[in-house]
Amino acid sequence: MAKHSHSIVLLAAAAFAAVTSLVAQETANPAAENAKFVAELKAKIAGKEKAPAKEVFKNLKMFGDMPAERLLSVMEGGFAKSLGVSCTHCHNPAAWESDEKDAKQIARDMSALSRSIRDQLKAIDKLGIRNPTVNCTTCHRGNTKPATTL
Ligand code: HEC
Ligand code: HEC
Repeated sequence: MAKHSHSIVLLAAAAFAAVTSLVAQETANPAAENAKFVAELKAKIAGKEKAPAKEVFKNLKMFGDMPAERLLSVMEGGFAKSLGVSCTHCHNPAAWESDEKDAKQIARDMSALSRSIRDQLKAIDKLGIRNPTVNCTTCHRGNTKPATTL
């Protein structure tokens, strides 16, 4: 009897470890979850992919003029991938337009920061770059907190 309950405890511990590692994997690799969100949103905007994003979505302060499907590519390949996060880092997926998460407004301010760095690079005469590229990946490289050491 005692032996039997011992093995149940072991089984329960193994099951718990398996579930914990699954959850950890999901957080470590959000790409699949993000692809699922994008697929759901694409299905929702079907027929309006090329329409200006502001006619399709509800709360745009920067990206209103780009085609709606392009906004989703920027979200997936630009924002989420460069920070290594799920869409849920910045969004409540039940209300994509909501600004309830601070990271979403920070992302708008970071876009302005990137633009201002690009302008400053253009002003470095002897560098001679007309269209310098500085984007989220330049600093973030797959992390929410940019590295300060190599
Ligand atoms: C780093 C933060 C961040 C991440 C990560 C992110 N977004 Fe966004 N998202 C934003 C910001 C900021 C806006 C608003 C842009 C604007 O003001 O023009 C936005 C707007 C949107 C909108 C428009 C909602 C509306 O109705 O106004 C959708 C849809 C959206 N995102 C989907 C996604 C999806 C899907 C993902 C994951 C693949 C994602 N986002 C990842 C920051 C983020
Ligand atoms: C010049 C470098 C630089 C660029 C370019 C940059 N960031 Fe950041 N970002 C930072 C730094 C530094 C922090 C603060 C990290 C810390 O110490 O917490 C930060 C923080 C953030 C945060 C808050 C961290 C968190 O946990 O949510 C978000 C969101 C973010 N950046 C999004 C973006 C997005 C989106 C872009 C591109 C539009 C971008 N950043 C471009 C340097 C940069």
